[in-house]
Amino acid sequence: MVVAIDGPSGSGKSSVSRAVARRLGTAYLDTGAMYRAATWWCLEEGVDLTDQAAVAAAVDVMPLVMGIDPAAPTVHVDGTDVGEAIRTTEISTAVSAVATNLAVRAELRRLQRVIIAAESSAAAADASFSGGRGIVAEGRDITTVVAPDADVRILLTASEEARLARRSLEVHGAADAAAVEATKDQVLRRDRDDSTVSQFHVAADGVVTVDSSDLDFEQTVQAVLDVVEQVMATT
Ligand code: DC
Repeated sequence: MVVAIDGPSGSGKSSVSRAVARRLGTAYLDTGAMYRAATWWCLEEGVDLTDQAAVAAAVDVMPLVMGIDPAAPTVHVDGTDVGEAIRTTEISTAVSAVATNLAVRAELRRLQRVIIAAESSAAAADASFSGGRGIVAEGRDITTVVAPDADVRILLTASEEARLARRSLEVHGAADAAAVEATKDQVLRRDRDDSTVSQFHVAADGVVTVDSSDLDFEQTVQAVLDVVEQVMATT
């Protein structure tokens, strides 16, 4: 089983997808972490992020290993655990330059499809983490480009207000007016930059929308699990 989940930043996509994978007993792939790792690698290698060809060449040879156990997902580049390093403001600010590079997208999508295919095929039973029981993959273009034939495709949305409040709590530990204002620019700019390469604010044909604006974390996880159950029951 392949569950594809897309959504904007602050929709709770990563934590919800990971919890859903744990509950379903599948593997979990955070594709945003791959774009972040690519950005980390380019900066580490001293690549000028405005040089599209150099960025693409660096990502082509990036020794990336994604750990896809939802209980403890990991990201290693050239043997270095970059799990924390890819969450810094420096990377969050720089990542759009890498994620909008079409050659980078082609390479990372190829890797994503390899991982998804390995986890969803019965032949993966022995070698893979999940025993070939499937994968929950999340990002911006999973339902539309990476895995348009996934068994379940979900767009996880939330109102701008709810997204800003969540991100503000995450970054500043508060969601009062001043903290929300401080977060606003960054979140809206990233949304705008990200939208230039994939349309993830509107559900594509056959994609089920789950709006988490008025749901807490547990309710959102349950809403996604309900969609998975409904879709699987009718196919
Ligand atoms: O979800 P995130 O914030 O970790 O994503 C990091 C960046 O990667 C963000 O700029 C969006 C981009 N991204 C993308 O373009 N396609 C994906 N499938 C996943 C993330």
